Amino acid sequence: MLTRRRAIKSLGIGLSAAGLGFSPLLRAQGNVASRQPLNIPALESGTFSAGTTNFDLSLQRGSHSFLPGLSTETLGINGNYLGPTLRFKRNQKVALQVSNKIGEPSTLHWHGFHLPPTADGGPHQEIAANQVWNPSFDVVQFAGTYWYHSHVMHKAGSQVYKGLAGMIILEDDEQDVALPSNYGVDDIPVILQDRRFGDDGSFLYMNRYEDQVMGMMGDTILVNGTVNPVVTTGTKLLRLRLLNGSNARTYNLGFSDNREFYQVASDGGFLESAVPLTRLTLAVAERAEILVQFDPGEEATLVNVALPPAFPEFPGAMSEMMRAQNAQTFDVLHFRAEASLQDNGKPPSSQLTEIYRLPESAATNVRTFRLGMGNGMRSGDDAGPGRGARNGRGGGFGGGQFSINGRRMAENYINERIQFNTTEIWELTNTSPMMHPFHVHNGQFQVLDRNGSPPPENEMGWKDTVQVGADEIVRIIMRFTDYRDEENPYMYHCHILEHEDRGMMGQFVIV
Ligand code: C2O
Ligand code: CU
Ligand code: CU
Repeated sequence: MLTRRRAIKSLGIGLSAAGLGFSPLLRAQGNVASRQPLNIPALESGTFSAGTTNFDLSLQRGSHSFLPGLSTETLGINGNYLGPTLRFKRNQKVALQVSNKIGEPSTLHWHGFHLPPTADGGPHQEIAANQVWNPSFDVVQFAGTYWYHSHVMHKAGSQVYKGLAGMIILEDDEQDVALPSNYGVDDIPVILQDRRFGDDGSFLYMNRYEDQVMGMMGDTILVNGTVNPVVTTGTKLLRLRLLNGSNARTYNLGFSDNREFYQVASDGGFLESAVPLTRLTLAVAERAEILVQFDPGEEATLVNVALPPAFPEFPGAMSEMMRAQNAQTFDVLHFRAEASLQDNGKPPSSQLTEIYRLPESAATNVRTFRLGMGNGMRSGDDAGPGRGARNGRGGGFGGGQFSINGRRMAENYINERIQFNTTEIWELTNTSPMMHPFHVHNGQFQVLDRNGSPPPENEMGWKDTVQVGADEIVRIIMRFTDYRDEENPYMYHCHILEHEDRGMMGQFVIV
């Protein structure tokens, strides 16, 4: 068996010397010889009968070789690592048969969908070992890229890390937007994850202090489970369905040559028109569909570009840790264009769809959510009135009190009761020193503003997860329709899974 050092060598990976104390070193992925074709998860369209599309999903244990000569124990859905890409159709009913064969409790959550709370797959829909869960729901979302993942209480982080996640592609036959749609050929799933491996190839999880604070960030980038991946394209235009399926890492994406690309969809469907970009920030659980053009024979690399530290410098581990976030530039996914390319269209210049912007005046209630990490480093939540939001920063490290409105998630406590058939504005504030991606179950919302300013163009579509930066106030607007259920709650939470698992989550019912 190869030792870790030899495995690293044979991958052509040299650990870069950018050794900030708290920065997880990213394995350079630039080595050409060790590039591997990007894994494309199987496309599963289900079986159709009596107006319902049925999917059979089995949560199972397995192993996979991510690093040459080393084997890693994993979890997967109908396979060893990750799950198939499920193809849903708008206005169809789906029925999912989920069998739990992993020997411990789990759940499967349909992220981004408007559905009854009992079909949601959150912490309350726990599937015991060797049990089967049979949810079904009508697919009413817009065409787009969604996903599914474990949401089991306190262990979503470790189960997703080991592989319990997959992509969902929602199609709408009535929406005739001419975009590349040949799955795995010019319509490519891109599930971004980062992992840390032990010498024996095993996944390491939460084995460093900073993981408790920042969430679990790895030193090896996986795309659809592939290390150092390459896509060979035979078409001029590629549609990339980007899904940040990491536990904690935020990506700041762009191309190595700074070429322009076009974002056509956000979490919940198409944007009104293609937005030209050279950089795109994607936090955990966010999706973006982008179009990128290639010339015959050329190569390009999707990279993560380091961001300047957003946190002040002062002595101590806190500042060092916060400043090391997003501080590295690394390769994510290589592209190699064939010598002659099929012409499969251009980024559309016409309108993609019409988005009805929910008017503020439709809202009958405003709720405030304060995201806090009272680790003793910045006690914004407990600071009380009159104290600056930055107060308490830089103190000692305490217990890790991840909270929303000063409360940690308790399964038997309903935090919010929402009137059925109403529209609400949620004001999200962040009294902690780092960004939290805030996610609301049961559908899609719109971003009204960030610190009072309208959101950028690519945040003007439907969203289910929104980045809330330190000291930022983000206002979102959402409708609560169709599924009135006083008993069964939906979740809202930070989608950094280690924050969610440690309490930065709450529950609402629609009454
Ligand atoms: Cu993607 Cu509550 O989850
Ligand atoms: Cu969700
Ligand atoms: Cu968080």
